[in-house]
Order: sequence, then structure tokens, then C-alpha cells
Amino acid sequence: MELENINLDIKFIRSQFPAFKDSLSKNWTFFENAGGSYVPQQVINELNKFMISTKVQPYAEYPMSKIAGENMDQATEIFAKMINAKTREIIIGGSTSINLYVLSNALKYSIKPGDEIIVTNQDHEANISPWRRLSEVGAVIKEWKINPQTAELEIETLENLLSNKTKIVAVTHCSNIVGTINDLKKISQLVHKKNALIIGDGVSYAPHGFPDVKELGVDFYTFSLYKTYGPHLGLLYGKEEILKKLPNQNHEFLNGDYPYTINPGGPNHEELCSLIGIYKYFDKFYYHHFIKDNKNIREKILKVNELISKHEEKIANPVLDYLNSRKDINLIGKNKIKNKNRAPTISFFSKKVSSKQLANKLVNNGIATRNDNFYAWRCLEALGIDTKDGVIRISMVHYNSEDDVNNLIKVLKKIPD
Ligand SMILES: Cc1ncc(COP(=O)(O)O)c(C=O)c1O
Repeated sequence: MELENINLDIKFIRSQFPAFKDSLSKNWTFFENAGGSYVPQQVINELNKFMISTKVQPYAEYPMSKIAGENMDQATEIFAKMINAKTREIIIGGSTSINLYVLSNALKYSIKPGDEIIVTNQDHEANISPWRRLSEVGAVIKEWKINPQTAELEIETLENLLSNKTKIVAVTHCSNIVGTINDLKKISQLVHKKNALIIGDGVSYAPHGFPDVKELGVDFYTFSLYKTYGPHLGLLYGKEEILKKLPNQNHEFLNGDYPYTINPGGPNHEELCSLIGIYKYFDKFYYHHFIKDNKNIREKILKVNELISKHEEKIANPVLDYLNSRKDINLIGKNKIKNKNRAPTISFFSKKVSSKQLANKLVNNGIATRNDNFYAWRCLEALGIDTKDGVIRISMVHYNSEDDVNNLIKVLKKIPD
């Protein structure tokens, strides 16, 4: 069936997430998804299964241990296939912040005094601080600044910053404030012309469709699994040929055994196994909407991604239109989603009341959101926004519904403009 004729079955989607039936959360219109998403039943099942029958040290020959190890491997393999990577290119750590810190530590040894590192002022701090810190080993830090009028990163600005001394460029695929999707493929090509490494932060991108890391051409890519319907973990992808050469940060005897060499301590076992549940959810999602066929994991994810984008565009554009129509509200970023140029992560502030006051009004009326700088304080500072009071962020994912949007607009209409 062609996609034009298929719409996301929102009733089915929401039925997969127990939070929509839970006595505490069911009465809330949840718009804090960029902070962390709900999990589907399949993830909870995998976590419970591990805790009940395989919560032992993995990789021995007795069945509880053998199955635990097999499930850990399977979870990593599945996630590699979902983003078109190799299994040995996947590192599962505690969060994106820790993964990028550990990575910067590993790359530190290849930086010589005078080498240049480019960071942005649009990123979350997780993809800025670890790179800025390399000034301690002599790196010269250059900042790729947003255009303060549009809040967007412009490619020409990067072109002017790149030089033969550039060694690393760290940039977000999608800002957690502005929502714009940066052209990471084009950026990778430019960075590679200088033989530098490109580190993409996909935390605000991946919840809206798992990317193809090979297609993007990035050297490293990160996202937070707790924002892609899983437990509190982060995934780091790194190109095999680069991982192979990084120094061992783990036990000495593990020398050469990448990617374990990068990530001291390894992953949380039970949470890693529960990632199988994310794939089981998307597999069920696929077969609910499309005909039974022999598509591989990545092909199914691609179809799912298309349906997610179509639904997100449908629910986010009325919110963008409404906010844009209000005299008292400053909307950050593009005022329309078209051809996946923007994520449904919508930040704004009032010209009349503080973000805190506005957030309280929303919360008092059943809308789960907050005001904050969301750790992208350099971005807010560049836009002249008080970083303490921050912005209000309405962040949606595919399980948000038209009813959610109507609830939000109804509450906003009660607030005079
Ligand atoms: C765009 C972006 N990058 C990085 C992070 C940091 O992720 P983590 O909480 O997994 O360290 C966040 C968290 O909100 C984020 O929104």
C-alpha cells in the first residue's frame, strides 16, 4: 500500500504505552518528550524478563547466563541494524553526556597544540563541554555561531571556520531548542574535505526516526535511548576504522577488543536487553500499518520513519500556526514543518510574562511541560533570552495526538495575548 493512503493509527500506538492507562499519568497531556519519552509495554516486558530469569553474570554456559549474554548481543545487533551500522560500531553507555565525555577523552591523545576544534552555540552542552575541555591539551576552540535572527546554523559560517588545522567538528543533527534539522550529510562532506572528524548529536533527531549513520557519513553519532522509548541509556556509534585506533580506556588486558576499549565498565545489562523491546514495538508498529513482507530491519524502520514524519507534521503544524498567530509569543525556529526540515520540538517565550509563570499556567491546566534552558544555555544566551527563566518547550513524538494538540491550544487560548 502507498504511504499517501496510510495514516498512523494513533489509538493502536497509544495502546502500546502503559503510561496512557496509568492512574498517575493518564490524565496529563504529555509534551515533555524531548526530556524523556514513555516506554512501550515491549520494553517493560524485556526488562522484567531479564530481571526474573536471567539476572546473573552473562556469558557462562548455564542457561540463565547464556541467555542473558545472547540477549545483550542481540540487543546491540538489532540497534546496529536499525541505524545501518555494524555491531562493533555500537557503544551503549549511561547517557549521551557520559558517552561524549568518554569519547573526548579517547580522542584527546590525537590532539596536538594548535589543532582546531569547532563547536556550535546551538548544541546541548553535552556536545560542547567535552570538546571545549580539550583546550587543556592545546586545542584551539572555534565557535560556529547561530544567526541570532533565525536561531539557525548556516553552512557558510562553518565554511569560514574550517581550516587545514581543523581536527574535530561537533554539531547537533537537530537542536533541542530550535528544532531545525541541520544538514548533517552536507556538513560531514565539508568536514571530511579537511580530513577532520565529525561528531553528530542525534539526541533530538532520533526520537522522530532512527537515522542511517552511513548515509549521514558521520564519524561518530550519539543519541539517548531514554528519549527513543527505552530505558536511561545512551548509544554512541563510531566508525569501525576509527574505533580500532582509539586508545584502550578499559582494563589493560582488553587491549584491541574494541568497542569495549572505549567504554570502561560496559553497559547496564538489564537495560541493554530491554532495548530489544524498542525494536519489538517498532516491528509491531510496522506490521500493524503495512502488509506482511520480508523487509529487513532497516527497511521496516524506514517505512515507520515515513509514517512518523507524516503524523508529526499533522500534529505540530497547528501548534506552530497557533503560536505564530499570537502577538505576545515569540516562537523560536521555523514556523512550519515541511519535508522533515524541523522536529516537532517547539520552543517559545512570552513578551508579557515569564516562562516560569507561563509554564505554571500550563501545568495547572493539565499540560505536562516546563520552562528551562534545557542545557542549551549558549543558544538561549545568543538569542538574548534569560537562561534561568528559559523558554517553554512543547515537544511531541508520534504518540501525541490531535486531542493533545487541541487540549494545549484550548489552554493557551485562556491566557490573554
Ligand atoms: C540535544 C541533546 N543532546 C544531548 C543531551 C544529553 O543527553 P543525556 O541526558 O543522555 O546525557 C540532551 C538531553 O536533553 C539533548 O537534548
